[in-house]
Amino acid sequence: MDDRFRIRPARPDDLTAITGVELVAFADPWPRPALAAHLADHFRVADGAGGRILGYVIGRVVEDEAEILNLAIHPAHRRRGVARRLVEDVLAGFGSAGVRRVFLEVRAGNRGAIRLYRGLGFEMVGIRPRYYARPPEDALVFCRIPNG
Ligand SMILES: CC(C)(COP(=O)(O)OP(=O)(O)OC[C@H]1O[C@@H](n2cnc3c(N)ncnc32)[C@H](O)[C@@H]1OP(=O)(O)O)[C@@H](O)C(=O)NCCC(=O)NCCS
Repeated sequence: MDDRFRIRPARPDDLTAITGVELVAFADPWPRPALAAHLADHFRVADGAGGRILGYVIGRVVEDEAEILNLAIHPAHRRRGVARRLVEDVLAGFGSAGVRRVFLEVRAGNRGAIRLYRGLGFEMVGIRPRYYARPPEDALVFCRIPNG
């Protein structure tokens, strides 16, 4: 398999592919309109061989804080560093936007994502009990201070 990919801003014509990845990545996927609503935010895709969308990250900046709202990689393209590159890219964008702290929530049982975020300098700062539905699960809140 060709492992090359590039990171670029998401476009409206990516939404069908993005929605497809969302559906296979999550038990409680966001519907297409919810994904579309973030096209003007920090929404990046990993674009692989033949223009295939391998995954995406969605971030949002509010003044000097930011949140990573969504991150998913198609199961066929995992453990190749795609998520790490996407998160590094969105963090660089946050840095350019003057962001001081980046937050995210992750399911308490999502060990792979937690390892990814810890590896990128995020630290756990709280728990939101039963934050998630379908299935119900606690959220762990992580925070990172860019260049901190
Ligand atoms: C979590 C997810 C985004 C990781 O994507 P990925 O492209 O496979 O991750 P990467 O290859 O960039 O992994 C970087 C590091 O994260 C950690 N990691 C990622 N997935 C892991 C897993 N399943 N188990 C353990 N560690 C994992 C490892 O430290 C990995 O480095 P290594 O491969 O050198 O050991 C992907 O599995 C996914 O889309 N899962 C379903 C949706 C989801 O959980 N999104 C996150 C919501 S908060």
